[in-house]
Amino acid sequence: MLSVAVLISGGGSNLRALLEAASEPDFPAQVTVVGADRPCDGLAHAEEYGIPSFVVPYTRFATRADWGAELAAQLDIWHPDLIVLSGLMRLLPPEVVARYSPRIINTHPAYLPEFPGPHAVRDALAAGVAQTGASVIIVDDGVDTGPVIAQERVPVLPGDDEHTLHERIKPVERRLLIDVVRRHATQPAATAAPAPAPLPAAEE
Ligand code: GRF
Repeated sequence: MLSVAVLISGGGSNLRALLEAASEPDFPAQVTVVGADRPCDGLAHAEEYGIPSFVVPYTRFATRADWGAELAAQLDIWHPDLIVLSGLMRLLPPEVVARYSPRIINTHPAYLPEFPGPHAVRDALAAGVAQTGASVIIVDDGVDTGPVIAQERVPVLPGDDEHTLHERIKPVERRLLIDVVRRHATQPAATAAPAPAPLPAAEE
């Protein structure tokens, strides 16, 4: 059974969807721990499902690296096979990315590489695009720059505001996340970055 750690900062609706999926008897992964960078509403979902949780408050540490070291220490207690950033609104320090890569994935409410960063939904609206999307990526040291492992388009509708558009994107994010976790549990290479294209044959 694949052991999954989920890191959150907010309401945790994607976490909740994963907890629901994982409570199905045939789901091949279990959420073993939930962590957060601040006290937040999403921790209540962990409690409801009887999953242990921890908070490593970002603001209590002098540097991002110090915070990351404590976060990694907490995660290591649970030996997670996969770490899911599900609305964690902090950039992980490179030491933490290197420690777990490529076993850290992130959900994002846009069709990456379009609209990276913390205001993806607002940015898509401001750009006036007809469609945006949802993505799951492998985390690297950049801001939403890692390899895309699943993504899907979501239309922007007339009259959409940031809330209505985000609420249309989130169910897609959840479905993609659950699919990726299931795939990773049954064939771990599935979350690995796509193989690079073969080099063209040398000219004779
Ligand atoms: C999701 O759209 C996530 O991709 C973004 O923040 C949202 C988190 O929502 N970074 P929730 O905390 O799962 O409700």
